[in-house]
Amino acid sequence: MKRNVNRVAIIGTGFVGSSYAYALVNQAIVEEVVLIDMNREKAEGEAMDLNHGKLYSHSPTQVWQGEYSDCKDADIVCITAGVSQSEEVTRLTVVEKNTKIVKAIVEQVMNSGFNGIFLIASNPVDIITYATWKFSGLPKERVIGSGTMLDTARYLFMLGEYFNVDSRNINGYIIGEHGDSQIAALSTATIGGKSIIDIVNSNRKYSIEDLEEIAVNVRDAANHVAIRKGATYYGIGMCLARLTKAIFKNENVILPVSAYLDGEYGFNDVYVGVPAVINRQGLRNIVEMNLNMDEKEKLTTSVTILKNTMEPVID
Ligand code: LAC
Repeated sequence: MKRNVNRVAIIGTGFVGSSYAYALVNQAIVEEVVLIDMNREKAEGEAMDLNHGKLYSHSPTQVWQGEYSDCKDADIVCITAGVSQSEEVTRLTVVEKNTKIVKAIVEQVMNSGFNGIFLIASNPVDIITYATWKFSGLPKERVIGSGTMLDTARYLFMLGEYFNVDSRNINGYIIGEHGDSQIAALSTATIGGKSIIDIVNSNRKYSIEDLEEIAVNVRDAANHVAIRKGATYYGIGMCLARLTKAIFKNENVILPVSAYLDGEYGFNDVYVGVPAVINRQGLRNIVEMNLNMDEKEKLTTSVTILKNTMEPVID
């Protein structure tokens, strides 16, 4: 029987999982949040801390430290567990360890009878999302990675500063791997309906070189944060909360998530960051942007890197 409350189970209550939980409670997005961690005490402590503050968030959210059996009634299970990139060189170097970790997690989640939507944040997110899809046997529409949501948010934030305009009025995407081979799809970016390339070409204050520098800063942003504070977590927590809200509110909003490509952009059998329509069913469809030749080539390189990295780890 369908329950009339929404439940999110978060696997992994490190910095990312607990920041996500904090965002969910503060934004009153969901009625139930279950925190699951190998370190039960950590999950218990996070649940206590969140419950203690709940009064002042006007949020109805119930939070508790739970078990895999609690995933049975979860609408969303979000995996944030794994070795973090800050402990390794790049997101890709953690692939082997995190694939093993996620396999064990997905088995236990599926054994509970879970039949909802998986959200994946563990890195390298595109590969771990693919692994979750494969290990779970769930339809591709119900296994979604955070993809380039955070990179896109960083991009729009930096473009907003550069052009001195509210980021929400900028339409643009970072696509490809959530990692070093990501692509700023500049040819499609607009501000107030006007092409960013046209804006730059018609005003000497701006330059394409500056925009290229912004794209590099976006690509390296996680490292820039990690050097200063050890790890990134609020940004990704807010991305996951946004994605969760889009699902529960059946928004049909377009978000750049890690999605399974089945012919889109000319690729197959890979998860990669592209804009997609998100609603209560999960991922409704992928939006195929009109990329220019250079962007298409870079996307091909990004997909090739993902496939080559994934191949020895996931059969
Ligand atoms: C980042 C981590 C989540 O980009 O990969 O901040």
